[in-house]
Amino acid sequence: MTPHLASALRLDSELRPVRDPGFLEDVLSGLSQRRKTIPPKYFYDVTGSRLFDRICALPEYYPTRTETTILQVAAPAIAHHAGPDAVLVEFGSGSSTKVRILLDALERPRAYVPIDISGEHMRQAARDLQTTYPALKIVPVEADFTQGVDLPTLSEGKRIGFFPGSTIGNLTPADAARFLQRAAETLGPGSDFIVGVDLRKHGAILHAAYNDREGVTAAFNLNLLSRINRELGADFNVKAFRHRAFYDAAKGRIEMHLESLKPQSVMIAGDRFSFRQDETIHTESSYKYTISGFQDLAVSAGWQPADCFVDEDRLFSVHYLTR
Ligand code: AVI
Repeated sequence: MTPHLASALRLDSELRPVRDPGFLEDVLSGLSQRRKTIPPKYFYDVTGSRLFDRICALPEYYPTRTETTILQVAAPAIAHHAGPDAVLVEFGSGSSTKVRILLDALERPRAYVPIDISGEHMRQAARDLQTTYPALKIVPVEADFTQGVDLPTLSEGKRIGFFPGSTIGNLTPADAARFLQRAAETLGPGSDFIVGVDLRKHGAILHAAYNDREGVTAAFNLNLLSRINRELGADFNVKAFRHRAFYDAAKGRIEMHLESLKPQSVMIAGDRFSFRQDETIHTESSYKYTISGFQDLAVSAGWQPADCFVDEDRLFSVHYLTR
C-alpha cells in the first residue's frame, strides 16, 4: 500500500473509516496545479452536508425555496408527463426533501432510488422517507453520480431522473453535457429527466446568495480544509484562510475560493504545498443558465425539452426532458 493510500484510510472525526482513496489523489493533484483547485464534491462529508442543509434555509439563498415553490405549482403537470408507476432516480439526493413533492403528486410511484456520495447522510434520509412512505420501495445507491452508475435491478416502470437544486451548475457546461448523456444511459430508453437549473440574473442577488450574513457559506467552504486535516492528516491552519465568492458575468458563473491570508505552507501526506498571500484554492463554480441556453445543452446531450417551469421572478427553472 502506498503512503498516500495509507493516510487515506485514517478514521474521520466520527470514527468511521474513510473509504474514498480518490480524495487524497484529487487533493494532491488539485493543489499541484498552477491555479490550485479542489473538486466541490468533497464539500459533502457529514459536517459539510449539514452546513449545506443550513445554506438551503438561508434568507439570501433563494434557489431552494424558489425551486420548491416551482415544484409544488408544477407537480400536477409533472405527474401528467410522468404517468403512473414511475421509478424515480435522484442524482445527488442529499436529504431527499424535494422528492417528497413528486412522490405526493405522482400516480402510484413504484420505487425511489437515491444516489449520493455521502452514504450515511443519504441512508438516514432514506430511513426518514420510508416512515412517510411505508409502501414505497427505496433502494439507496452510494456512488459518485458524476460517473456512470449501475442501477440496481428494479421493477418495471418508466424511469424518471430527478436532479434538483441546480447541482448541474457545479459542472462545467462540457461536463454537464457529458453528465446528461451518461444519465440517459443510466436511466435507459424511454426515460424522462427533471432538472432544476438556476437562471442568470442580477449579480447583486447572486453575490448575496453566496456571501450570506451569518457566514454559513463561509463555514461550508472552510470545512473542506478541516476535512482534509481530519481525513488526510494535513495541517491546514484553517483560520489563515478566508471564504471568497464572486459572480463572473462573462462566464455566467459564481466562483468560490479559499484565500490564503498570509504566505504559508501545508503538509499533506508527506507533500508540502506553499501559498502566497492572497493566493486561492478554487473550490466551486456555480454556472447559471438562460432557459434556451440550458435547453440547447440538453438537446446536444440527446434530450428533448418537453416543458419548463419558472417562478414569477424568473430566478430559477425546472426542466422536464424526454428522449
Ligand atoms: C449544490 N449546489 C447547487 C450549490 C450551489 O449553489 O452551487 C452549492 C453551494 N455552494 C455555495 N452555496 C451553495
